[in-house]
Amino acid sequence: MRPSDFAEADLSEVVEQLTTDEAILLTAGVGFWHTHAVPRLGIPAIKVSDGPNGIRGNHFFMSTPAKCLPSATGMAATFDTELMERVGLELLAEEAKLKAASVLLGPTCNTQRNPLGGRSFESFSEDPHLAGMMAAAYCKGLQAGGIGACIKHFLGNDKENDRFGYDSIMSERALREIYAMPFMLAEKYAKPWCFMTAYNRVNGTHVSENKHILQDVLRKEWGSNAATMSDWFGIYSIDHSINAGLDLEMPGTNKWRTLDLMNRSIQSRKITKRTLKERARKVLELVQKCCKGAPEILDGDGIEQIGDLQAGREIMTQLASQAVVLLKNEGDILPLKPKEQGLKKIAIVGGNAKAVVLSGGGSAALKPSFFVTPYDGIVSALGKIDPDVQVTYSEGARAYMQMPTLENEIVTDDGRPGWIGSFHSHEDDNSMRPVDKPLKTMHIDETRIFLSTDYPKELTKRFTLRLRGQLKPRDHDCEYEFGLLSAGRAKLWVDGQLVIDNWTKQKRGDAFFNSGSQEEYGIIPLKAGVSYSIFVEFCNVRAPADSDPDEALMDSNGGVRLGGAEVQHPDDLMASAVKLAEEADAAIVVVGLNADWETEGYDRTTLDLPGRTDELVRKVAAANKRTIVVTQSGSSITMPWAQDVPVIVHAWYLGNATGDAIGEVITGKVNPSGRLSLSFPKRLEDVPSHGHFHSEHGQVRYAEDLFVGYKWFHHRKIEPQWHFGHGLSYTTFEYSHLTLSEPKVSDGDLNVTASVKITNTGSVTGTEVAQLYVSYPTTSELTHPPLMLKAFAKVKDLAPGNSEVVKLSLDKYAVSYWEDRISRWVIDDGVYIVRVGRSSAPEALSLSAEFKVEKRLEWNGV
Ligand code: BGC
Repeated sequence: MRPSDFAEADLSEVVEQLTTDEAILLTAGVGFWHTHAVPRLGIPAIKVSDGPNGIRGNHFFMSTPAKCLPSATGMAATFDTELMERVGLELLAEEAKLKAASVLLGPTCNTQRNPLGGRSFESFSEDPHLAGMMAAAYCKGLQAGGIGACIKHFLGNDKENDRFGYDSIMSERALREIYAMPFMLAEKYAKPWCFMTAYNRVNGTHVSENKHILQDVLRKEWGSNAATMSDWFGIYSIDHSINAGLDLEMPGTNKWRTLDLMNRSIQSRKITKRTLKERARKVLELVQKCCKGAPEILDGDGIEQIGDLQAGREIMTQLASQAVVLLKNEGDILPLKPKEQGLKKIAIVGGNAKAVVLSGGGSAALKPSFFVTPYDGIVSALGKIDPDVQVTYSEGARAYMQMPTLENEIVTDDGRPGWIGSFHSHEDDNSMRPVDKPLKTMHIDETRIFLSTDYPKELTKRFTLRLRGQLKPRDHDCEYEFGLLSAGRAKLWVDGQLVIDNWTKQKRGDAFFNSGSQEEYGIIPLKAGVSYSIFVEFCNVRAPADSDPDEALMDSNGGVRLGGAEVQHPDDLMASAVKLAEEADAAIVVVGLNADWETEGYDRTTLDLPGRTDELVRKVAAANKRTIVVTQSGSSITMPWAQDVPVIVHAWYLGNATGDAIGEVITGKVNPSGRLSLSFPKRLEDVPSHGHFHSEHGQVRYAEDLFVGYKWFHHRKIEPQWHFGHGLSYTTFEYSHLTLSEPKVSDGDLNVTASVKITNTGSVTGTEVAQLYVSYPTTSELTHPPLMLKAFAKVKDLAPGNSEVVKLSLDKYAVSYWEDRISRWVIDDGVYIVRVGRSSAPEALSLSAEFKVEKRLEWNGV
């Protein structure tokens, strides 16, 4: 029997035949990424894979190159559900098949309560409607391609520090209307095959043990048939999680749901066999969907394929360029037309211009199948329109948190990029003495090595990895600084001289999902033309922390990271960039964050750009009137220089096609149409959750309640730097003729359609995103956010002078709220105001109309 034959199995019969032990085994994973197979009953194992902006495959270490899409905030900035669905089907589903994964661990659908949240880049938006519609489109496309979506992290994982422990304390109204809404919309429109529970608690109980969320909300109200899966190591009990409705514990290492513990729980009547079988059945339903969806994976060889490295470049570039948001364009400096504008020399400066910044960090990070830096993309786009334009470059101000990795700087003795690693067992499992003869030797082309579970299984529990390579010769003498950190302990020798000891004593840091040490540094002089031998010794046992000898250590997966860069005086770097800007006819400053600043396991502490970046932007803008600032970040940053620079382009993390997309927008091949999927505040203190964002004694109070994102800025009349939904074009649009249909109430739903005419009043073809916001009746007894996005539509490629009538449909969720006292959704009777325009800025919502709901409506469920 082929594994995929399980597609036709009668699940009731299969469940009936399961022994208790088999049922137990089905409720927990095997290894890091698989479910349990029961060959006796023809039940195959399925493989799951991260997610969400591409498919990494099984390995963190030497992973299979993959297509990396823009961060979810960037994808949401397209406001394009059609494109999202296409990407799900044509790109993500196909990529999952290449990686032999039946379920993609995505999309991430949490809410940007605060841009400091380390994983803000992974979720679509601060707005539940936009997030939900994008998530639904993502799941729909993916699942139409036969691959299951595992929507995550359900619910309230809105920050990283203390993520296993904190309690997200929120009103039931905020829970329903803000935090659960994207998940609910995805369930309503796309029925994800799987829900991943969040690590944290919500209102007192961990989500993986939370009956209210897993049963009352998900199963009973929403009627979801999805399997529920824990986040990795995110269950903390046996009977609580089983009884609460958590079907699958992941991963299958260090698990709670072992045969021994589960059988003891059954014996002690903490859990019943019936409940156990219910959980196992849900896992089987998921497996069966996978068998039907993409049988070729289950019948295949399980090997991860790379495919054509350049494949999908077109759709990736399309998605990435449509995500780019033109925030400001004074004097129509963009698009750059070197010949017409008389630009002979263009300076590109900034710490991100040549850096590899394509995604946030953590489980979303991928090894890209290709990558185009902003610098390369801009140079190539400029070259296409004017081959004579001269481009100069300077880094200007350094933006990294950890020293840049060295895979392009270190080579093996035979000249391959990277180094040679040898894995050594120790004399026994508890010994710190490695045996000299390696168990395995391999070429490693990365200097950030997160081993996770990807090391030879025959190694002793404690083991050593030795890494040897040569630092490529420089063409000038210099001082060189190395940075070394590890989850474990490590030392660096250069030409036999000990340069860094991150072994004897360590300071705990945030890298490697919070299990790494801090980075330690060492500087050595290098002579021109000389290659130096590099030797790193890493052991997977952590050194004692110098601060807290009693710290609680979780099992962590080993990792080591070597970075480095030439020492350059920050004043010299700055001066060289400013000089180039002065000498050029236009200056492009590419600045921002990267995967160290925005990552799983770490929350930022400031919205400021790193180091002296702000100073660089100001100085370049003062030196060159034609300064174009391109910012890269997955979430919002502050731009204290926003008034002083004429052009600002926000480029999120754009994945493989980063440089292509930026180049196309800057040169006008693509007319920008991206809109901010979250508000950019002027200062951290203006963020709604400021002052109650952090976990204090394990509690995170969602005190801003419903007023998340732009709703807060409206409610408090605080002017953000950039409004949610804002984004300019190289043309202009006029909105007119707003009309509303009569509200229709039928089948427990309400429908109103708004029509609006959009005219391209500029001189080039462009794409516009019409946004519809609703204000609830002033007669309501409750306080509601002043404006709420409830519909949006994209008018694509409208030629100058042309018009199109856009229809925006509203349903019951456009006018309802959660009524706590009766635990139901309610539509109040009264007058609703509809405002339509090009962003959430009140002044951008030029048209308004109203409709009346005559009779109150209530319901439960989706
Ligand atoms: C993350 C999940 C991810 C899982 C597997 C966890 O640390 O929170 O989003 O899917 O790891 O890599």
